[in-house]
Amino acid sequence: MDTNILIIKVHAIIALLSVAIYLIRGFWMLTNNPAVANKGALAGASLAMLILLGTGLWLAFTGTHGIDNFTIAKAVGLVAYVILGVVALKPGLNKPAAIVLWLAGLGAFAYTFLFAKDMAPAFI
Ligand code: HEM
Repeated sequence: MDTNILIIKVHAIIALLSVAIYLIRGFWMLTNNPAVANKGALAGASLAMLILLGTGLWLAFTGTHGIDNFTIAKAVGLVAYVILGVVALKPGLNKPAAIVLWLAGLGAFAYTFLFAKDMAPAFI
């Protein structure tokens, strides 16, 4: 298998793994479960984001993209997803704000995923 095809698969699987962790941590936030601040879950989420960024940058700069609108849209999507998630899942934030921010982060992920799959329109 071509290395970049393998890396696209790793990138897509890690994206799904990251959102699985995001959903579980969101459920903990909704149910006031202190596990939301669990160091293991936080480390898993951070590692998934780092691998997502690393494989994404690899694909962008070894493939045909470079810094094009596709790469910029993906990077903006990842930054929105990470920042909204970090703020929403911070213990101590009031529940309505946490829910709105968490849903917005989920929206950023869904858009970025569908955009990568050519199922959502570009915004730039
Ligand atoms: C929320 C974050 C992200 C999600 C959900 C995501 C999702 C995906 C998915 C599902 C694919 C596979 C598309 C296919 O099946 O062909 C893909 C490919 C790709 N992604 Fe990401 N990605 C994210 C972040 C990034 C970032 C931050 C970058 C770069 C800075 C990036 C660059 C790329 C590139 C270059 C490809 C290969 C496109 C191609 O040549 O066909 N992604 N992404």
